[in-house]
Amino acid sequence: SVHPVILSGGVGSRLWPLSRETYPKQFLDVAASGRTLVQQTLERLEGMPDLAAPIVVCNQAHRFLVAEQLRDNPLGAAQILLEPVGRNTAPAVGVAALQAMRDAPDAILAVFPADHLVEAPAALRTALSEAVQAAEAGWLVTFGVVADRPETGYGYIEAGEPVSNQATARQVQRFVEKPDDAGAQAFLEAGGFYWNAGMFVMRASRYLEALQQHAPDILRGCEAAMAEAERDLDFIRLGEGGFAHCPSDSIDYAVMEPTDAAVMVPLEAGWSDLGSWSTLMSAGAADGQGNVLLGDVIAEDSHNSYVRAESRLVATVGLKDHVVVETADSVLVAPRDRVHEVKAVVQRLQADG
Ligand code: GDD
Ligand code: MG
Repeated sequence: SVHPVILSGGVGSRLWPLSRETYPKQFLDVAASGRTLVQQTLERLEGMPDLAAPIVVCNQAHRFLVAEQLRDNPLGAAQILLEPVGRNTAPAVGVAALQAMRDAPDAILAVFPADHLVEAPAALRTALSEAVQAAEAGWLVTFGVVADRPETGYGYIEAGEPVSNQATARQVQRFVEKPDDAGAQAFLEAGGFYWNAGMFVMRASRYLEALQQHAPDILRGCEAAMAEAERDLDFIRLGEGGFAHCPSDSIDYAVMEPTDAAVMVPLEAGWSDLGSWSTLMSAGAADGQGNVLLGDVIAEDSHNSYVRAESRLVATVGLKDHVVVETADSVLVAPRDRVHEVKAVVQRLQADG
């Protein structure tokens, strides 16, 4: 069976002031659609055959948010693994793999970030079915989105030969996680490169083998954390000792870059990673002036700007290429092309306690 694994441990600091450490973006209705991002992540899988109950991996601080938001999810009661500290995605998938194999030794994992937008869920489900077939044949499967701009926040996949007996899957010739500006530009010009969508499908046992081969210390840490794990109400608390000593690394660097067992299924499903205000702006519906306006906003002679009012009226005059986000206690104002620097604001806030 296919075990959905939801990675919900990020804090989403690039979406400050909407996303907060205590209430990160995956628990918010960021795209103003009526459902939070983590709820949509599960709901878009409904109707897939052979699905087991989901496994959610998150920080222990967010356990009640997760439990509440997934209470009546259509895939069945979630198993919620609690991390004492974040160790990035390679260990998070590792503990999920160990958990899934307790129930089903031949489990297939379908790993999803909790904070993405998919406009065409049916197309995603079709791509997933193909990915499951490839995973059954032993591949580590990722999804490729045609790259249309130089984006340094993504992993890049160079597509190789088609995979036999598969409809659209291609071998992963090369995987480069988060290239620099020049690298991203060169990949775009070369063509034939895809963005890694950050979703993975593979046998749980196959992923653990890959960890053993490429990141054995992470595997040791995951095993220790699961050996010491304790049930607490409906949650599974990972052992602190094992997990705290586990190296911190992403699945992309730890496994996908070094492995030669990866294939890519092309994905055309209106995918976007709502990683920053600029991607959120691209994913939103713009008016005739190129503005994306949310909430109680009056924009006079304003252009190509994202203005979001959560709790008060926000008015702009003569604004161009800016992002303005108002919440009850904080306001962000930044030029569009510098809005990723909000990370520095969050760091300052953390430093000031
Ligand atoms: N449980 C848990 N623990 N989840 C985590 C942790 C952790 O320590 N760290 C991150 N996550 C979750 C995030 O909440 C998010 O849902 C997902 O894992 C991916 O982490 P990001 O930090 O958002 O990764 P990224 O966006 O920089 O890069 C990844 O996604 C890109 C596409 O959006 C990579 O896979 C890239 O290659 C890819 O292009
Ligand atoms: Mg991301």
